[in-house]
Order: sequence, then C-alpha cells, then structure tokens
Amino acid sequence: MKTSIRTHDGRVALVTGAGQGIGQAIALALAERGARVIATDLRPPNDTVEKIGPSGHALELDVTQEEQWRSVAGKAREVGEVDIVVNNAGYFPNRSIDDLDLLTWRKTMATNLDSHFLSVTYSLPGMRRKKWGRFVGISSNMVGLAIPGMSHYIATKMGIIGFMRGLANDVANDGITANAVLPGLINTQATALQSEAEKRATWGQQAIKRLGDPEDVTGAVLFLTSDDAAFITGQAIVVDGGQYRIG
Ligand SMILES: NC(=O)c1ccc[n+]([C@@H]2O[C@H](COP(=O)([O-])OP(=O)(O)OC[C@H]3O[C@@H](n4cnc5c(N)ncnc54)[C@H](O)[C@@H]3O)[C@@H](O)[C@H]2O)c1
Repeated sequence: MKTSIRTHDGRVALVTGAGQGIGQAIALALAERGARVIATDLRPPNDTVEKIGPSGHALELDVTQEEQWRSVAGKAREVGEVDIVVNNAGYFPNRSIDDLDLLTWRKTMATNLDSHFLSVTYSLPGMRRKKWGRFVGISSNMVGLAIPGMSHYIATKMGIIGFMRGLANDVANDGITANAVLPGLINTQATALQSEAEKRATWGQQAIKRLGDPEDVTGAVLFLTSDDAAFITGQAIVVDGGQYRIG
C-alpha cells in the first residue's frame, strides 16, 4: 500500500520528459507527496498535469535548447523557485558503432547530457538562495550490461553519473545534493517494441523476475529528493530488480 505522507510539501519540482513513461510516474509521485510539479516535455504534458490536478503545471521544454530552459526558468518563478530537478528526458536509438553517425551521437549527447548542465545553470541560483536543492539524473543500468548498439547512449548515461559526482562537490555547501538513479528494463513506450522473449531474457537475469513498471522507479527519486537524503550525494542507485550488482 502506498503511503500518503507529505514529504515534499512546500517544494517545487521540475521534471523533464514528463509526458509519459518514467517521467510521468515521477511527476505524479512527487505531486502525491505534496510537491508543486512543473511537468515539462517537447509539448506541454497536459495529460500528466490533468492527473496531478491544480498543483501541476505543464510547460514545453526541449531539454536540448538553452533558450527554452531560460524561458521555463522565468515561467517557473510564477509557481515558485525550483527546489528539485529530475532530469529524465532521454534519447536512445539503437545504432551499432558501424551505423552511428555524428548527428545521432550529438543528439544523444544534447538530450541526455547537455540537459543536465542547462538545468543546473538555470536552477542553481534559486536553490543557492534557499540553501536547499536536489538534482536527480535518470541514468540507466545499461552502463553495466553487455548490450550491443548502445555505445553513444551508454557514454551519456555514464556521463550523468560522472556529472552528478562532480556537481555534488560544487554545491554541497549550499544544502544541495546531486545523485543518479539507474533503472533497469521498465515497461514504457520506449521498450514496448521489444519482443516478449527479449523482455523475459532480461528479467531472467534479475533477482526479482518481472518487468519493472514506471512506478518502480519513483521510490528512489522520492527518497533522494526528500529531507531524509540530506547526507547522500554523488551516488548512483540502481533500480532494476537486482540485475546489475556492482554500483
Ligand atoms: N524504459 C526503460 O527501460 C529505461 C531503462 C533505463 C533508463 N531509462 C531512462 O529513463 C528515461 C525515461 O525513459 P522512458 O522509458 O520513460 O522513455 P519514453 O520514451 O517513454 O519517454 C521519454 C519522454 O522524454 C521526452 N523527450 C525526448 N526527447 C526530449 C527532449 N529533447 N526534450 C524534452 N523531452 C524529451 C519524450 O517526449 C517522452 O515523453 C530516459 O532517460 C531513459 O534513458 C529507461
């Protein structure tokens, strides 16, 4: 049974890629815990905000575009200064190294990594004023798996872990933490194209033998963005039913 404790009362949380999948689940979970949520996506994620109710706000944000981060930072101030940023939007085409072109490489870097830097640029001043803040980067347990065709993606998902580790040092004195969450295979539109056999092969490697749901990822994010995790920073938490065991 889900708890309804209001661990995030008074907080303003911005979630990227919140129109569906893991990002939507995170936005809903933060709202359920009391946060006012700024749900963002390539198009304003109105479905997500309808589910949240009056404490939700839908904004357009292509995470690769600096001017859109600037504009969202301005609009977000009407809701309140952002306390929590969950960078979830991701780009993950499968391309073997022989087929990988520079355009795909750069789009993967821009979506999965530039976004984190830009979110810090536009959220850090407000967090510093409040002496409280939380950055969570959605990485992937694929950084530790032998999955072909994903070198560009794995580079960015390791990059997120590295950026959170480094960022943690620079913001620690301001009551701000930075951590990464590494989901395993999760049932979203992104993974819907995989055959049942492929999915079963993955969860056969897990201790908990089932496909993860987007809601399975929210617990780690709620914890890391709460006051309970004030002394946890620069960490990478794997949420994959026990597939990948070395963190
Ligand atoms: N599903 C999985 O098995 C899985 C496993 C590990 C990690 N992840 C990570 O979790 C995150 C979410 O994955 P998902 O499965 O929910 O994916 P999804 O495709 O269901 O949703 C991704 C969302 O991000 C948005 N998005 C894409 N590019 C964007 C951009 N440039 N700007 C703003 N929004 C953008 C999309 O519109 C979409 O709403 C990704 O970072 C992914 O790498 C997913």
